[in-house]
Amino acid sequence: MDSPNFLTFHRDEARHDFFSDHRDRPPFFDPRTRTWIVTSASDCRQLISSDKLRPATYADDYRALGQRFNIDFSALVFAFDHIPLCQHGDPHARSRRLASEFLAARRTVVAAQIPDITARHLSAFKRTGKLEVMNDIIEPMIREYLCLISGVEIGAAQSIGHISSIFDRSSGLNKRQAMESEIAALRELIVSRLGRHAPEDEVGLRLAFFILGMDPLRGTLGESLHKLIEANAGLRLADINYPAFPPQTGVPFIERLVITPFNSGTAAFNSGDRVRIFLQSFSSEQSDLSRANFFGAGTHACLGRPLSLDIWQGLTAFLSEIQLRASVLSYTPRTSDYVFTCPEKLVLELHS
Ligand code: HEM
Repeated sequence: MDSPNFLTFHRDEARHDFFSDHRDRPPFFDPRTRTWIVTSASDCRQLISSDKLRPATYADDYRALGQRFNIDFSALVFAFDHIPLCQHGDPHARSRRLASEFLAARRTVVAAQIPDITARHLSAFKRTGKLEVMNDIIEPMIREYLCLISGVEIGAAQSIGHISSIFDRSSGLNKRQAMESEIAALRELIVSRLGRHAPEDEVGLRLAFFILGMDPLRGTLGESLHKLIEANAGLRLADINYPAFPPQTGVPFIERLVITPFNSGTAAFNSGDRVRIFLQSFSSEQSDLSRANFFGAGTHACLGRPLSLDIWQGLTAFLSEIQLRASVLSYTPRTSDYVFTCPEKLVLELHS
């Protein structure tokens, strides 16, 4: 793999060998994505919490886009104004504190229900035969968790397929309008559940949880199950040695803008440059400590990490009681966005 396509690299099977075979590759500029690409785990570790970089602020881009094409992007602007990841300085500290207090309080409520939710959604793992994991198990389970975490019931019919993709810079206008409609509908639903007089911050916080939690959780569980079952083909589910941290991540990279110029090896990073830090590189390191970086680090480190690990560990605890064996019949990566790694379909066969 001489010159990967970094638009699709995060879902290319060849990435697994690439991360193992190019552990020392220095950062390089990719003309196609117009970003610096960082794929060595040690460089990634250094850069994820660097204060010379910061996440992009999308709200202003959508305000400008809305004016230019005379399109209403007010729901997207509202969402970005409430997502902690898109805030800086004092507004970020405030928004992060609100989110952190809320999630800490929900953790006990969620933890109490994990055994029941897992057992209900994963019951098909106890029967021999074919099983499609993503649409039939992971998707409805993640929905239930996100409703439980945010304390808002959205029902099965609500379309939220695009919500996490709002960070995808490569989307065309039609897709952006589809995202605007989904976010507007979800926001309206949250308002109707919380009451018309609910403060905007309360509505925005819940919207942010759906956006930040949905695809990361769906992708991480799906990709991790895929690789775990593939690597342990032939073993009883009860005999697999399950890691405390998921082995793969649904958040393949994080993107940053350079705010203070710096050098890394021979690479000179200038103000305004974009940098793509591949968190997927940590999957090649085989240690829970390294894979903890799947959740970012520093100012914007993931606030959903404890809950997500509880959910992963609930899932593996359930599987570790099952005497059947599983093998992967087919795996289809999702190709509808360029920011997450997630199976579209994962078909397994359960047998004795
Ligand atoms: C396995 C699942 C998850 C993974 C792999 C994951 C990964 C990440 C990563 C890498 C970041 C940092 C992004 C950056 O620095 O650019 C992040 C931020 C964040 N995540 Fe997660 N996440 C997961 C689940 C969740 C869930 C379920 C929630 C809440 C419902 C959540 C809430 C947040 C929040 C609020 C932030 C922003 C923190 C801030 O900017 O201060 N995450 N996540």
